[in-house]
Amino acid sequence: MVSNIISFVSEDKIVEIKNPDPNETLLNYIRTKLKKTGTKEGCAEGGCGACTVVLGELKNNEINYKSINSCITLLPTLQGKQLILVEDLISKDGSLHPVQKAMVDCHGSQCGFCTPGFVMALFSMFKQYSRPKGEIIKDSIAGNLCRCTGYQPIIKAAQSLKNKNKIDHFSKNKKIIIKLLKKINNKSILIKKKDKQYFAPRYVQELKKIIKRNINANFLSGGTDMSLSITKERKDINSIIYMNSIHELNYIKNNTKYIEIGATTPLSELENYIKKYYPDFTKILKRYGSLQIRNVGTVAGNIATASPIGDCLPLLLSLNAQIVLQDFKKTKILFLDNFFINYRKTKLKKGQFIHSIRIPLFKKNIFKAYKISKRFDDDISSVCAAFNLEIIKNKIVSIRIAYGGMAAVPKRATSCEKILLNSLINHETINKAKEALEKDFKPINDMRASRFYRMEVAKNLLEKCYVEIKKAKTIGLYG
Ligand SMILES: Cc1cc2nc3c(=O)[nH]c(=O)nc-3n(C[C@H](O)[C@H](O)[C@H](O)COP(=O)(O)OP(=O)(O)OC[C@H]3O[C@@H](n4cnc5c(N)ncnc54)[C@H](O)[C@@H]3O)c2cc1C
Ligand code: FES
Ligand code: FES
Repeated sequence: MVSNIISFVSEDKIVEIKNPDPNETLLNYIRTKLKKTGTKEGCAEGGCGACTVVLGELKNNEINYKSINSCITLLPTLQGKQLILVEDLISKDGSLHPVQKAMVDCHGSQCGFCTPGFVMALFSMFKQYSRPKGEIIKDSIAGNLCRCTGYQPIIKAAQSLKNKNKIDHFSKNKKIIIKLLKKINNKSILIKKKDKQYFAPRYVQELKKIIKRNINANFLSGGTDMSLSITKERKDINSIIYMNSIHELNYIKNNTKYIEIGATTPLSELENYIKKYYPDFTKILKRYGSLQIRNVGTVAGNIATASPIGDCLPLLLSLNAQIVLQDFKKTKILFLDNFFINYRKTKLKKGQFIHSIRIPLFKKNIFKAYKISKRFDDDISSVCAAFNLEIIKNKIVSIRIAYGGMAAVPKRATSCEKILLNSLINHETINKAKEALEKDFKPINDMRASRFYRMEVAKNLLEKCYVEIKKAKTIGLYG
């Protein structure tokens, strides 16, 4: 069934919006149409968390609660989901939700501007974890900024939740919500409004038919890059194909040779899955935007954006990843090495989409990755580096090194690799390899870092990798 009516669940009811503006943000809808002003607007670019709301989505007959930034979420993408706002947390009898009560009891609010965002970020954590602590708490609120309370009282409020009874009015109504979500989960969306059109197919086959007739349409996945051209650059996006409605492409699997990630898989799911194979990949993803960003953002979007500071890109290049591209007729598999042409220019052709990403499994290799940014959490890299090497009897027998933030595109350090390949791993070789980085890169000065700083950092990260490997070998970690 194809419809121009968006259906979602709010306050235990199905709400319908006929033919919404495809460029309207969810935040705008909440504040100006629903007239619910608990959800705040701070930055309008996904960076402060003031606009955090929670979406409930059906997965394996359960509701998966995710915090998201409503300021960069386009309204039609609400189709088939449950929308939970800060106003919805209070029970019908007027009592506060355990998360709200914890914030009051621990004095977690002063001016209150950031508070609804924190409450919603903590609410999604409360629904997902039975005993949240440490890293889980930090991760849940790393995307929320507070400029007056200070974080300690908020962290205390979060810690106190581990002792709280998990039964709230959402768990009591779960069966009803699941039934409602199932009822609205059966349609694809086609909106035509003035000069704008929006498609949300549910299957790849349907997607291909849409592409054939709309070759210039823009693919939208998490929207964490694309929506900013609406909210910050004030541009219109006239033709959109929403990819994340295709559940068929939301998967991660592996065989003995590679991990395959479907294009619509959110980064927050990848960070859990890949930890077992490449712990440093997870380490970088944990510092990739915020949980709100990673709950919707995708690797496919990161690749297609082709930003020189896209964090997945040096990691994928060093792991020799491949991308599976499709258009309405053909499938093509390309090494990521051959994908980036120039600043934000790729080999992606009109009507071609990223279907999936394949990351080889190097079972004998050491994989290390580092991100340097001005702020530890929720900040863009100044430099990001990834090292993938195999060492046999102190000799480097294979190596792939890639950097972000050092050139117009994320790029391999091939001169540096040449020095290291088939060499003994020692301080002398590393010093030569560090010098070779000067041949590989001519970084630029910008507001994030100077050219000099970038080069120094790039060299130091290579040294850091060496020191860590040496230390690990001394204690027998790498044989
Ligand atoms: C607050 C904030 C913090 C951020 N922090 C980081 C960070 O730390 N590190 C980092 O690397 N990035 C960061 N980003 C950028 C962004 O989150 C990533 O690039 C993300 O991976 C983009 O994925 P998406 O699914 O949201 O892409 P979208 O915004 O939906 O799309 C981005 C581009 O990719 C295209 N596209 C999307 N899916 C496909 C597909 N399947 N096939 C073909 N083309 C496609 C779109 O047409 C568009 O051109 C941040 C962004 C924000 C707003
Ligand atoms: S308003 Fe700042 S993240 Fe949305
Ligand atoms: S309470 Fe004022 S910004 Fe957080």
